[in-house]
Order: sequence, then C-alpha cells, then structure tokens
Amino acid sequence: MIWDGSDDLDSVSRSTEKIGRVLTGDRPTGRLHLGHYVGTLKERIRLQEVAELFIVLADYHALTTERTAGQLARVAENLREIVLDYLSVGIDPKKTTIYVQSEVPEVCELQLIFSMLVSVAEAQRVPTLKDLIRVHGLTSPSMGLLGYPILQSADILLMRAETVPVGRDQEPHIELCREIARRFNNLYGKVFPEPRALIGEVPLLVGIDGKEKMSKTLGNAIYLTDTAQEVGNKVMRMYTDPKRIHPTDPGTVEGNPVFIYHETFNTDRAEVEELKQRYRAGRVGDVEVKMRLEAALNRFLGPIRAARGRYAADPETVPSILSAGRTRARREAAETLRLARQAMRLDYRFDPAKSTAPPSQPEGSDRA
Ligand code: TRP
Repeated sequence: MIWDGSDDLDSVSRSTEKIGRVLTGDRPTGRLHLGHYVGTLKERIRLQEVAELFIVLADYHALTTERTAGQLARVAENLREIVLDYLSVGIDPKKTTIYVQSEVPEVCELQLIFSMLVSVAEAQRVPTLKDLIRVHGLTSPSMGLLGYPILQSADILLMRAETVPVGRDQEPHIELCREIARRFNNLYGKVFPEPRALIGEVPLLVGIDGKEKMSKTLGNAIYLTDTAQEVGNKVMRMYTDPKRIHPTDPGTVEGNPVFIYHETFNTDRAEVEELKQRYRAGRVGDVEVKMRLEAALNRFLGPIRAARGRYAADPETVPSILSAGRTRARREAAETLRLARQAMRLDYRFDPAKSTAPPSQPEGSDRA
C-alpha cells in the first residue's frame, strides 16, 4: 500500500514494512503514568519489534515551561526516572535508541535552518501553542515557545524518521514537519523524508477525577512508580457515577472512570462483566468495585515495579543507555547535517591547511 501522505496511519498502522524509521519523544517534565502507558508506551513496545525506533528525551522542549533553577534541577532527575519507566514496561535499549536532545546539539543547527522556512504567522497559528500558553498560564510567551514545533520537526528530521507515533494533539506539529521537509526538498533537493504521524488507536485515558485526560499538570494521574498503597488511595478517591448515592441505586457503567480502568487494566474479563452487571442492577457498592480495581491495577503494576527495582539497583544502567544512545544519534545527526549543508551549498570550509584552490590555479598549489 502506498501512502499518499494525506492520511495519518490509522488505517495502515498494522502494515509494518512501510513504517521505516520511527522517532518519538517525551518532555522530561515528570514521571510516566498509566495514560502514557495506554497512549504510547504500549505502542512503542510493539514498534520496537518491527522498526528502528528512536526516542528523544526533549529537555530543550522542557525549557519552554520549566524555567526556574529549581524546576531545571529536576530535569536531570526526571531523565533518569523516565528511562527507568521505559525499561520497566519493556522498552529494550538493544532495540530502541534512547537519547537526550541537548546531547545531540546538531538539533539546534537544524532548527535554525528550518526556522527560515516557516513564516512567523504560520508558527503563531499552531494550535497547541495556544493550549500551552493557557494551561501553563504564560503571560508573555517566549520566542523559544514559538519555535517549539520547529524544534520538534528538527528532532524528527535530524534522524530522518519516516513515522512519528504521537497523540492526536501533536498532529499539527507533524503537519508542520511535513511542510518543512517539502519546502527544504523543493528549494535544495531531496534530503528529508516526509514523516507521517502514527496516531494511536486508543482514546485518551480519563483521569481519576473523571476529566478527559490523565495528566501530570491536572494532578489526576496514577504513576507507574506509585506504591500499592498510593494506588489504593487514588482509586478510593476516584470519580464514579455522581448520580448514584446508595449501592442499591442502578449505576451507569458507560463513561464511568472506574469501569474504564477495569476495562483497560483488569485482565479478569469475567470479573469485569460480573461487576458491570451488578452495578447496572444496583447490586454492588462503589467500594467493592474500587477494591477490585485496586487489586487489578496492582496486579498490572507489580511486574513493572519489580523490573524497575532491578534496573534501578545498578546506578550505571541509565548513564550507559543514554551514552550509547547519544553516540548512535550523533552519527545520524552528523550525516543529516552533512547532507543538508551540501544541498544548501553551505558545505564550504575555510580551513587554511586544506582549503580548495581557486579554479584558475593548478591542483595542489595552495599547499604550503
Ligand atoms: N512535543 C512532544 C510532546 O509534548 C514531545 C516531543 C519532542 C516529540 N520532540 C518530539 C514527539 C519528536 C515526537 C517527535 O509530547
């Protein structure tokens, strides 16, 4: 099947041979939670088996919202935690290249080049910027924030990735990235692929408060690192059917976060079906439904916690993964910039020892 480029990969995401190199990224602003698991981690675990997968830890992107010294001091810790989160769910560094964005500074050069190809008006129109400004209450958004999607395009195209698994909210960024690749290729010759968004088939996981999306900023998340006790407390506080007052009232299962989580994480299907029936009939209390959810979530998280403990025990695990990732990513980055500069006729070198002779002079006469 040939992609015409207009679609995202919803319909073709299972035809693996066309996926090519895959790149995705996370801003290291906090630990990963169940929403990340459902929305992206699970997909990455699948993708690493069928494609060459790169994950960039976008610490420069984090600067758009984390700016005080205190917030930035936490980025280093977050980087470590996120790598452990990846390992604990089964992302395999032998198959997947994990690297830190700022350790591959070529991305800044590419962003500068790309920023010449995007008009100010276009950059201002990217809808996610408005959301970021609102959510973080930014009173005077920076130039850096305006360049956010261009930097993301540089992440993707620096690795010459062809497929980018992201959430729906990131689609406009991938659109811009495709546009940048087209413009560059039209102006200077074909260097870049036009990457496609691979939009996950899973809807967003609701927060424990019933809000549309589980998110760190909204404070409604269950983290992969939460203890059994913390999971229990959060589940007991969970939003359910607000119209139900007594266990004998018939309850609504559809859209009820407790049941959404049961459906998503409880592998005991018979138990889930039984609870749904009893809930609808008013024959089970919210507390029992929640206690069973707590048990199911802890069954799910148990092996993840155990794996994490094993990786965290060796302090060399994370540095050695990130160091190997940096080496691998910089190799690609150097090649991409070489190709881009060559295409742009920016590949001149004013090096006295090896500078090329003017055409009128005989070969080698510039050598001392
Ligand atoms: N902007 C992405 C987010 O907020 C993170 C990110 C940075 C990213 N660079 C990327 C995602 C490159 C995909 C590809 O989720």
